Amino acid sequence: MIPAVRGTRDILPGEVERWQFVEDTARRVFERYGYAELRTPIIEREELFAKSTGETTDIVQKEMYAFTDKGGERVALRPEATPSIVRAFIEHNLEQAMAVPKLYLYGPMFRHERPQKGRYRQFHQLDVEVFGVEDASIDAEVLDLGWALIGELGIRGAEMVVNSVGCPACRPAFSDALVAALGEDVRRLCGDCQRRATSNPLRIFDCKVAEDQPIIDRLPHSIDYLCGPCRAHFDEVRRYLGLYAIPYRVSHRLVRGLDYYRRTTFEVLATGLGAQNALLGGGRYDGLVKQLGGLDRAGIGFAAGIERLVLALPAEVQYGTARPEVFVAALGDDARQAAFVLLRDLRRAGVHAQVDYEARSLKAQFKRADRLGAPLVLVLGDDEMARGEVTAKDMTTGAQEAVPRAEAIGYCRARRVP
Ligand code: HAM
Repeated sequence: MIPAVRGTRDILPGEVERWQFVEDTARRVFERYGYAELRTPIIEREELFAKSTGETTDIVQKEMYAFTDKGGERVALRPEATPSIVRAFIEHNLEQAMAVPKLYLYGPMFRHERPQKGRYRQFHQLDVEVFGVEDASIDAEVLDLGWALIGELGIRGAEMVVNSVGCPACRPAFSDALVAALGEDVRRLCGDCQRRATSNPLRIFDCKVAEDQPIIDRLPHSIDYLCGPCRAHFDEVRRYLGLYAIPYRVSHRLVRGLDYYRRTTFEVLATGLGAQNALLGGGRYDGLVKQLGGLDRAGIGFAAGIERLVLALPAEVQYGTARPEVFVAALGDDARQAAFVLLRDLRRAGVHAQVDYEARSLKAQFKRADRLGAPLVLVLGDDEMARGEVTAKDMTTGAQEAVPRAEAIGYCRARRVP
């Protein structure tokens, strides 16, 4: 047996219904908010991610599935969707094509991380992005959309966390303040953090090393270093969150592990998922479109991890019952043939119908109908054939009645719970 690659998973019947529920709900909610789907390739030029996700991020430095293809080109399996969507936005001039470009994408992403509960090497994101709007009302819409998704999925106990990481005008002062506040303590931090202190001090907030936390907890907060426009924007976002009655907490630790963020950052955290508790995360990335060769356009979005949404769904809810509505049973060769025609007619008429493919005893067929959870069995035997009828047996009450063959489909439909 050749097992699946570490960090990848098969989604089998039984679990896949939960995925379908998440996918269907997301599409419904996104489209209601005016987002249109786009699909981009899983493979991109490696430099796309180096230039956007960021050279100094863990994703690009350590986790990317990047390789040289047979033509000698450096390519990567996408570790996230935002750079691809920005690329497509520029490449196809979507600004011209759409009044307000509001897009969503659903598909697999790849990061070579250490697998654990809620963290995989191939995982799936639902990603939404909006371009060209600087007003805080769009931050509010995007946050509200994330919150609506969690609500419509029935996920309980989730928490919205927000922050503002400022812009190129105010960030340098904050970075300096971080380095100054660390002072000599920088040498007591882990090797990664010591490197971050020189390359990108904000990244220190991503550190998960337990011994570093007391030092990190004492560091200054980005919202105390915002320039006037960034402060006004953040205040606006918070005012909208108040108007929308979305409960939230401001966390100065929320700088996010990707380089392109400016101003608003946010995550929705789940309770009970352990360390990998971010159901979704995102923020504003004004400047990225220009950086990737487009016009100077604002951008904001988030991505939710399907695996984590599925884990966070309420355990007691049954998703998508694949139970047949009717089981067709037959005894005798002629009846069997007629049964398969009836089965086909039922299915063509939109009724979920099942059968026993091997010509086994009636008892065995009923056992199978029971196992499949069919609430109704239509029996065809010699007597029924002679009378042009089927015998309908209600599997819950045990009641039986004769139904003319020509009325069998209508009979099954009429029994449907609306
Ligand atoms: P991210 O925080 O790296 O952001 O990922 C977003 C979500 O994807 C996480 O909150 C988590 O649910 C899921 N996720 C990430 N890595 C894994 C993994 N290894 N296994 C399972 N799930 C995972 C981004 O990717 C940004 N592109 C979000 C964004 C969109 N920002 C602006 N627009």
